[in-house]
Amino acid sequence: MGILPSQTADALRRTAALYERVQSVIPAMEWATFADDVDAILRLKKERNAVILAHNYMRPEIFHGVADIQGDSLALAREAAKVEAEVIVVAGVHFMAETAKLLNPSRTVLIPNLQAGCSLAESITPEDVRAMRQRYPNTPVVTYVNTSAAVKAESDICCTSGNAKKIVESLGVPQVIMLPDTYLAQNVAKETQVKIIPWQGKCEVHERFTAADITLFREQNPGVIVLAHPECPPEVVAASDYAGSTAGMIAWVGEHKPARAVLLTECSMSDNVAVNHPQTSFVRPCQLCPHMKRITLANIRAALENNQHEVTIPEAIIPPARRAVERMIAVQ
Ligand code: 13P
Ligand code: SF4
Repeated sequence: MGILPSQTADALRRTAALYERVQSVIPAMEWATFADDVDAILRLKKERNAVILAHNYMRPEIFHGVADIQGDSLALAREAAKVEAEVIVVAGVHFMAETAKLLNPSRTVLIPNLQAGCSLAESITPEDVRAMRQRYPNTPVVTYVNTSAAVKAESDICCTSGNAKKIVESLGVPQVIMLPDTYLAQNVAKETQVKIIPWQGKCEVHERFTAADITLFREQNPGVIVLAHPECPPEVVAASDYAGSTAGMIAWVGEHKPARAVLLTECSMSDNVAVNHPQTSFVRPCQLCPHMKRITLANIRAALENNQHEVTIPEAIIPPARRAVERMIAVQ
């Protein structure tokens, strides 16, 4: 590996056991560039009494290297509520950090890059929700967690990709407005008797997958199992073997142990899942989420060193937004 600065050599030694876990997905030369930051973050977490919540789309050096709690949006929300440490660093996108703050308001919640947004969260405003309510009176609003706190505050209840059908049916009504992901709404509509009125938001990552891609994967990889996220278009979900949240996909792989699989979702998922499921070889169509990829080891380290960027939510919207998220959690 050539001559390394002594600080890096020490960091490599201290992180050697961690590297052993991820060596199948991170080349040694790359780890050498991560070791200083991983080592510093592990130290800073202790000094600052901080925990790192990481979404399943984080790069493997974050997901396996420094995270304390990993999961899909639902798991991260549930776990955020229970955190006792003083500082929560959210290695994910802004709406996830807001959800953590809503559920655990006395903690300092940091997001390492304020630009880590989401095309779904961008697709709708509180005014849009109010207009939908006027258009469909007496119809409850079920809002995907991939939204701003201000939009959640206008909603009756939240949902994630992991519980959307259950939440819709928990309301015991014939129709609901479901915001903002039009494909998630269409996919849930196929599974329930409840009439779903959608919004027109889309995930810029999942909307790119097509049914023709699946035909090609199956032709080129006989026997491959196709797992899709429900933010994919309905024809993609229909052509897949399984559709579910990122945690649902991971659980499916763990349970069925397919020899070959393709995860129709963000790139880093396959790397992260492969570490714990070496029995499965993953075909890797790469669709990057530019927002998730704005979170790096360097900015997580800077977040802990400089207490940046603290997530705050206007006082007036905290109670109604929190109620919508808590109502969702209570349904589980
Ligand atoms: P999950 O809740 O399934 O992890 O999805 C979050 C997300 O942003 C998917 O694009
Ligand atoms: Fe938003 Fe899609 Fe990125 Fe998830 S993958 S954060 S839904 S843009």
